[in-house]
This record gives sequence, structure tokens and C-alpha cells, in this order.
Amino acid sequence: MKEGFLITFEGGEGCGKSTQIKKFARFLEEKGIEYLVSREPGGTEVGEQIRNILLHSKAELSSTVEFLLFSSARAVHIEKIVKPALKQGKVVILDRYYDSSYTYQGLAGDLDLNKLEEITNFAIDGAVPNLTFLLDLTYEQGMARKKENPALANLDRIELKGKTYHDKVRQGYLAIAKRFKDRIVVVDASQSIDKVFQNVIAIFEEIYK
Ligand code: TYD
Repeated sequence: MKEGFLITFEGGEGCGKSTQIKKFARFLEEKGIEYLVSREPGGTEVGEQIRNILLHSKAELSSTVEFLLFSSARAVHIEKIVKPALKQGKVVILDRYYDSSYTYQGLAGDLDLNKLEEITNFAIDGAVPNLTFLLDLTYEQGMARKKENPALANLDRIELKGKTYHDKVRQGYLAIAKRFKDRIVVVDASQSIDKVFQNVIAIFEEIYK
């Protein structure tokens, strides 16, 4: 049986992750490749409760607390959903993973990346992505897209943090891509949906054999 393959999609607000993931899933379906699309907390009850605190708490949360909450939700999701699917040989596609924490809480939230890596490695228990797509877009372009699409118009607590924070998110992502260049591929997300998708597929086909 083929071994599982873990793919993650990352990027700032409005970068088009969900659209690309939908197209990618359809592509795998047509190819007859078994897959699972998921995202933290992925339907686990504990994860849902943690996510609710993260996105809707009225209280001010420090980057440290945010990171630890995301890591807990991550650990449950990996153990209960992702690892079993990888064991069955599936391609698992995640909408955001720990690169989001490294970027949002780490580089944009001023936490020490080495410390985050240590805790993350503990939480994910070896589930490092085989391939990560970073859909790169400026904050302005992302926000303009969100305004065009009513489904994306409801901003959560993190999205409401403003331009200075989100500019740091973009720069942070690019720094993370450099640090983990063996697995992260930067895709220019300002291109058309179809162009971005062509890039994604070309990279996937080169690596997944
Ligand atoms: P999500 O619901 O996935 O929204 P989006 O449509 O932007 O992908 O993510 C919600 C917010 O949580 C988003 O602003 C990014 C943030 N986030 C972190 O700050 N750290 C993390 O580890 C993760 C997974 C998400």
C-alpha cells in the first residue's frame, strides 16, 4: 500500500486557500486517489471547544495562550483524524497547520520560533507535511477579495487585528518558507484561480509519485 502523504495549504486572509483545496480535492477524486480534506479542529468535540475560545473569546489572549490553545487543538486533530487517514495510505489535505502558528503567533505575535518548534514537534508526533503550499498575497489584495465575497465578510477575532499585524503575517510566512524550503513552495496567489491551480498541480505531480 502506498504511504500516506500530507499536504498543507497556508496563506494570509483572502488568499484563496479554500477554493484551491476544493479544486485539488476534485482533481484527486478524478485521478482515483484516496484523500481526506480536513482542518483543525476537524470535528473533534474537544477541538471545536478550543477553537470557539480562540476565535470568539471576548477576553484578550496573549500570543502564548493562543499558541498553546492552537497546539492542543492540533494534537487532538492529528491523533484522531490525520494519523489514521495517513495510515490508510490517503493523501491528507489540511487547510492551515502549524506554519500558521509559527507565522501568526510566532513571527507576527513576537514569540520565539525555536520554542514554538519544540512544543509543536511534541504536539504533532512526527506528522510533518510532505508538501506545503504558501499562497502568497498582500494584506490589501486579500482584504479586497474578502469584501467582494459576502461569504468571507464576517471577520473573526484574528482577522480584525489590522494591517500592521497582517503585514507582519505576510513577511512572516515568507520567512517561514525560507526556513523550511525543503517542503514549502510559494505560489503567487494574485494570479487567476486557474493559474494558481495549474501551479499547484504541477508541483504536486512532480513530488507525489
Ligand atoms: P481559519 O478559520 O482557517 O480562517 P481562514 O479562512 O482565514 O483560513 O483561521 C482563522 C484564523 O486563525 C486565521 O486568521 C488564522 C488564525 N490561525 C492562527 O493564528 N494560528 C494558527 O495556528 C491557525 C491554525 C490559525
